[in-house]
Amino acid sequence: MKITIIGTGYVGLVTGACLAELGNDVFCLDLDQRKIAMLNSGGIPIHEPGLAEIVSRNRAAGRLHFSTDIAASVAHGQIQFIAVGTPPDEDGSADLQYVLAAAANIGKYMTGFKVIVDKSTVPVGTADKVSAAIQAELDARNLSGAPIQFSVVSNPEFLKEGAAVEDFMRPDRIVIGCDDSPAGQQAHTLMKQLYLPFNRNHERTYWMDVRSAEFTKYAANAMLATRISFMNELANLADKVGADIEAVRHGIGSDPRIGYSFLYAGCGYGGSCFPKDVQALERTARDYGQELLILRAVEQVNNHQKHVLGQKITERFGPDLQGKHFALWGLAFKPNTDDMREASSRVLLRELIDRGATVAVHDPVAMAEAQRVLELDFADDRGALQRIRFCDNQADALQDADALVIVTEWKTFRSPDFDQVKARLKAPIVFDGRNLYEPQVMRDIGFEYYGIGRSVLVRE
Ligand code: UDX
Repeated sequence: MKITIIGTGYVGLVTGACLAELGNDVFCLDLDQRKIAMLNSGGIPIHEPGLAEIVSRNRAAGRLHFSTDIAASVAHGQIQFIAVGTPPDEDGSADLQYVLAAAANIGKYMTGFKVIVDKSTVPVGTADKVSAAIQAELDARNLSGAPIQFSVVSNPEFLKEGAAVEDFMRPDRIVIGCDDSPAGQQAHTLMKQLYLPFNRNHERTYWMDVRSAEFTKYAANAMLATRISFMNELANLADKVGADIEAVRHGIGSDPRIGYSFLYAGCGYGGSCFPKDVQALERTARDYGQELLILRAVEQVNNHQKHVLGQKITERFGPDLQGKHFALWGLAFKPNTDDMREASSRVLLRELIDRGATVAVHDPVAMAEAQRVLELDFADDRGALQRIRFCDNQADALQDADALVIVTEWKTFRSPDFDQVKARLKAPIVFDGRNLYEPQVMRDIGFEYYGIGRSVLVRE
């Protein structure tokens, strides 16, 4: 099938590449000329396992094209995916200007029936706005003859960064919202054909009305964020009462009604989705006169949780960290990505630097992105950046540090050579923001160890 993807960001690029891999003829549009030039010369703007191979294979096969030509992109696909960014406005609502601009361009150039798919995460009711934007352009063209038909469907993405290709190729569900007008039924037929390869063994598509599909995406992320914040709050209490949140996690996760996933306490969630989507859903509720009390707390707990490592460090070393030097492992908001958006490491670094410490940092893939982002974070204080040393490997970062602090649970941090860690650190102290290690084991091998919610009374 002929598909157009508008926006070659994270979601658009993965969607386009994977649909091409299934044999479709995919045209990816982006207005950022540098990004398109990079993709056309074999580069990939993001770090995502497996993506580079798929892009290169399908470009070579002539099934995947990258361009800045809007008219050509509208002409190409019978199905037009809108996968542009929806950054949060100052008030937390999703900024729809790029989505609506994409819709207007479709209306400006389309000459026959199109299915427009909202792939970006957009508030409930956006499909109606997209329809209106397309129709307004069609009306402005004063076309003679039968009106050009189109249908806007909602097909939210559920891609996890670092596992996006796998999530796309082996989805646990595909959510599609269509209306039941004749154009909506035509859209249903085309979308069914497009996703057929995923539904051969068993049906994975959940068909619903458009608003429910839009809502489903927010409900899913809000539920996951709630689980994390709830566990973080319990972990903070576990620290006070002397219980082990990891034991508690097993104890409750074994109940199938609760399940094990997304119950990991840590130093807060980040990324491009949870923080933004939680805020946007709260905002939608407010627009309809309702306060989402639980989500407000989810957000507050998460903001607090990003400070928990800093708190533990100041409880141990005192509030003035002048002359103290820390090793920090993990900068990205989670493993297998170089994404620094809303990363807990940024909050911690701000705190350590503001209190006068120096920090040696290492991340397996996010070093360049971290440098870029931290330059912006500390733009108000040039001297601050000089107190952050970027290290090529995790061992170097440890040298003469007063403690090791872990913020991201990269696999390579899970079983380090602890003798080497101890030898390089000035003192054997570990603040583990992702509960990678067993407190008792760490104490047995001579570390002073601080996890999240793991202050169970220990045998000496
Ligand atoms: C999320 C959703 O999982 C995905 O379905 C949606 O499409 C986009 O948003 P992503 O942001 O890529 O994906 O990351 P995810 O793996 O969900 O992790 C988000 C954050 O939560 C990370 O900072 C992670 O460290 C944190 N997290 C996750 C926890 O603190 N505890 C957990 O138990 C799980």
